[in-house]
Amino acid sequence: MKFDNRIAVVTGGGQGIGAAAVLRFLEEGARVAVLDLNCGPLDGQLAGLAHGSRCLCVSGDCTDADVMSAFFDRVDAEFGAVDILFNNVGQSARERGGPFVESDEATWRFVIEVSLLTAMRASRRVAPGMRARAFGRIVNMSSDAAFTGDVGLADYAAAKMGIVGFTRSLARELAPYGVTVNAVCPGAIRTRAHERLRPEVLARIVADTPAGFIGSPEDVASAVSFLAGDDARFITGQTLLIDGGRWMV
Ligand SMILES: NC(=O)c1ccc[n+]([C@@H]2O[C@H](COP(=O)([O-])OP(=O)(O)OC[C@H]3O[C@@H](n4cnc5c(N)ncnc54)[C@H](O)[C@@H]3O)[C@@H](O)[C@H]2O)c1
Repeated sequence: MKFDNRIAVVTGGGQGIGAAAVLRFLEEGARVAVLDLNCGPLDGQLAGLAHGSRCLCVSGDCTDADVMSAFFDRVDAEFGAVDILFNNVGQSARERGGPFVESDEATWRFVIEVSLLTAMRASRRVAPGMRARAFGRIVNMSSDAAFTGDVGLADYAAAKMGIVGFTRSLARELAPYGVTVNAVCPGAIRTRAHERLRPEVLARIVADTPAGFIGSPEDVASAVSFLAGDDARFITGQTLLIDGGRWMV
């Protein structure tokens, strides 16, 4: 299978897009380690699946450097060197969000920490080994909010555009060593954040999406799987919009 003998890490893989990527990597043969605040939903999805035994889900906060370090120590010990890193974890300020002119620095720091610094921290941990072994795939989670600049999401847009810059710089640095670094930028994807949206907001999102529907976590997982595979060896530093055509570059 495509990811036989590959070891993948997915941050925030306990549900939503991250969990879809975990399932995809497992189906394609990888061993997958996950760091998430809540492993419950993923454990539920894996129950009864034969390839679920190739998944290690560790409960912990990706924004805590010590927790992340201990997680990677455990992955090294139980699985071995990481080949694929999907820096998926991230979120907006959600209920704390609102107009920038009313925002506070603690909220910006929360959003930037979870949406940008986690990706830098995890990449810092695995990139030296990937470089030494002359193989690696890093896929970073951005968002189309970085491009569209949605109202009330200034901190989130800053963090997610930070991901784009980080991706390009790291891609250039690691390309000579057989390591690719790309970003994915989903538009509206049906995850639990969408459950909180009012029907009229969902209708407006659909109306703004040329494809005419809201994507699924699997739509993103497919792109992540492609970028993480051997077929994508000549693609690096790219930002792939997965948004039904809302933003075109
Ligand atoms: N859903 C969308 O429409 C959409 C669009 C663009 C980008 N994104 C991005 O995709 C990524 C995943 O989003 P989702 O919609 O699947 O979210 P989700 O809320 O469905 O799942 C997020 C997962 O991350 C975990 N998590 C959150 N904070 C954590 C932390 N500090 N440490 C460890 N785990 C943590 C949660 O427990 C949860 O399992 C995020 O980076 C998000 O910004 C989502």
